[in-house]
Parts: sequence; C-alpha cells; structure tokens
Amino acid sequence: NVFVFILAGGSGERFWPVSRRSTPKHLISFFSNKTLLEETIHRIKGLVPEENLYILSNKDQLSSIAKKLPSFPLEKILFEPEKRDTAAASALATAIAARHSEEATVVLLPADCKINDREIFRDQLLSAVLFAQETKSIVAFSIPPTYPATGFGYLKLGKTNCFVKNGEKFFPVIRFVEKPSVDAARRYIEEGDCGWNSGMFLWTVKVFIEETQRWAFPFYHFILEYLEKPLEWESAFISLPKISIDYALMEKTDKIFALEARFDWNDLGNWISVAEYLDKDEKGNRVKGKMCAYDAKENIVVSDSKLVALCGVNDLIVIESEQAILVCHKDKIHELKKLYEKLPQEF
Ligand code: GDD
Ligand code: MG
Repeated sequence: NVFVFILAGGSGERFWPVSRRSTPKHLISFFSNKTLLEETIHRIKGLVPEENLYILSNKDQLSSIAKKLPSFPLEKILFEPEKRDTAAASALATAIAARHSEEATVVLLPADCKINDREIFRDQLLSAVLFAQETKSIVAFSIPPTYPATGFGYLKLGKTNCFVKNGEKFFPVIRFVEKPSVDAARRYIEEGDCGWNSGMFLWTVKVFIEETQRWAFPFYHFILEYLEKPLEWESAFISLPKISIDYALMEKTDKIFALEARFDWNDLGNWISVAEYLDKDEKGNRVKGKMCAYDAKENIVVSDSKLVALCGVNDLIVIESEQAILVCHKDKIHELKKLYEKLPQEF
C-alpha cells in the first residue's frame, strides 16, 4: 500500500553548460556513471514492489529519460503535458495512489539530491511510512542547517512535543517557511529547533485530500476529476496553478511532522555544492576530468573531454562541455542566472 513517486520534472539551469534544456540536473551523472535519477531509484530499490514505483516528469524530457532508463517500464513514467511545478505533480501522484485505496501512502522523492548513507535513509524512510500511516499526517525530513540558505524551506520543530515510532522521534512542524530571505533564515537558525526541508514528503491519500480540500482547493478538485476520468487527466492538469507544494500546502497545513535526518544530504544546488564531493588536490582544487595547474588554488574544474590548464588563477569555476565553456568566479555563482538569460537561444 505504499507508492513511491520520484519527481523528475525540474530543469536545473544552474548546471549549465552540462545541463541544458534536454538534459536537466537529474539526468547528469556528477559522480559516478549513474545519473541522480538513477541514484534515486537505486536508493529505494526493494523497499516497495516495482509496480508501485513511478517517475513523474514532463513531455520535454521524454526522449532523454527513456534513453537513460531503457529498462524502466514506460507505463510507470508519467510525462506531464506542461511543467506545472510540484503541487500539480503531488496531486497527480496522490490521485494515482487514490485509485488503489484511501489508506495508501504516497512517498514523494525529488530526484535532485545526493544521499550517501543509503541504509540509514532506508531505515528512516520505513519509520516515516509507519508513522504517516498510523497518525494520518504528512511527514517531512529535517536537515540540520549549516548556513542561512535562501533556496530551501525551513521547518520550525516543536521539540517539547515529540512522538516516537520505531525508535525515531517525530516532531510537529510548528512553522514551515519556504525560501525565506537571508535575514529571516539567519534568525531561524539563531532561534534554534529548526531545519531545512529536504523536499521528500510522505502522506496518506486521505490526509492529502483533506488538507488540499481545505488549503489548496484546485489540487483537491484535480484528484476528484482524475478519479472520475483517469485517462483524461491532462486537460485538468494544465489548468492547475503553477506553484510548488511547499507554498501551496506545506506552509499552510498543521498536519506535518518531521524527523531529523540521520543520513547525509546535499541538494546539489550549484557547482560549489557538487564540488564538495570531488577529490581535492594539495592546493584545494576540486577536479572532475583532466586538469593541469600551476600556481592555481581553490578552483573547481569539471571537464568533459578537454584538458583544462590553469595558471595563476584562484577561486574559479571552470566547466567544459561539448557545446560550451563556463568560467565564473566562485563569489559570483549566484549571478549565473543573469548570464543564462543572455545566452543565445541555441544554448
Ligand atoms: N514531475 C515534476 N513536475 N517534477 C518537478 C516539477 C514538475 O513540474 N518541478 C520540479 N520538479 C522536481 C525537480 O526535478 C526536483 O527533483 C523536485 O521536483 C524539487 O523541485 P525543485 O524545483 O528542485 O525545488 P527546490 O529545490 O527549489 O525546493 C524544494 O526542495 C528543497 C530541497 O532541495 C522545496 O521542497 C524546498 O522546501 C526544499 O528545501
Ligand atoms: Mg531542488
């Protein structure tokens, strides 16, 4: 009665030029020969029957996903007709599970994070499933924050009031704030008892239906429409509001509990967070591919085929791919968005 949905419909411009429109972030293999999407599938392998595992993506990625996952059953990959963000994808996931039972549990997993502690993750996920089923609540994972990031959701945990299941502590989420300002983020961290939202969620069909009926009505309505006409969901889907599940529901509902992740977690938001996993030379340069350096330190180099040679430069990010080369100062990484807006269409 547990259904896992991997969310793989995002774009990931932040990894240009390796990721492009047709190869978003979850289709890149940063570390091994496996893409992040394949790593996500591997992470949960065997936890649920194979027929209960779905990938939710969108039509633009149809051919690239099919190419990367030739043995994954195509009928378990749903290609959304348009990118409508994660609230729409969450409603679609819940509707699919609802066809089986109101008591079914939905596990939503983003395909864009890195977790190395597979066994701990699997243990905690199983406890979370039991907890979600027993308490009819939504469960999130809280990640200990290390800096006032503005790209994450923040969970304020009610530490005085925890429930224990399978030896894991589940805390009520007193407040959920999606992508706060840097000042607010700093304040939450100073106040304590807060964590980053991992983006992974669990819920039972019933609680999702009740909570969307109350807080996010179009998504509730979509589930009803889907159940009535499961083969014609696409037209209802494209009229859904384009909003993430974090803003649409998680900031509003009071039915969320969180457990603190004991596994490592990295959202791989940009080249700097990816570089943490790359080997470091004696000058602090992090390299994937071929690099030769003289008097160069603390650089990040990712090269697809060519040798990257550095002389007398520090703190640069140099990314070489077949189509283009990116050179960016580490301090300017957040300005890459502005660069991407200027890129010629064909890139
Ligand atoms: N199917 C589908 N459809 N998947 C989507 C869509 C969509 O329209 N949009 C995004 N996704 C997928 C992405 O590929 C990714 O795997 C996941 O959903 C999360 O979307 P992001 O766009 O990457 O969200 P985010 O990183 O800004 O924020 C979320 O994750 C953070 C942790 O990484 C939020 O949940 C934050 O609260 C959280 O801290
Ligand atoms: Mg993300």
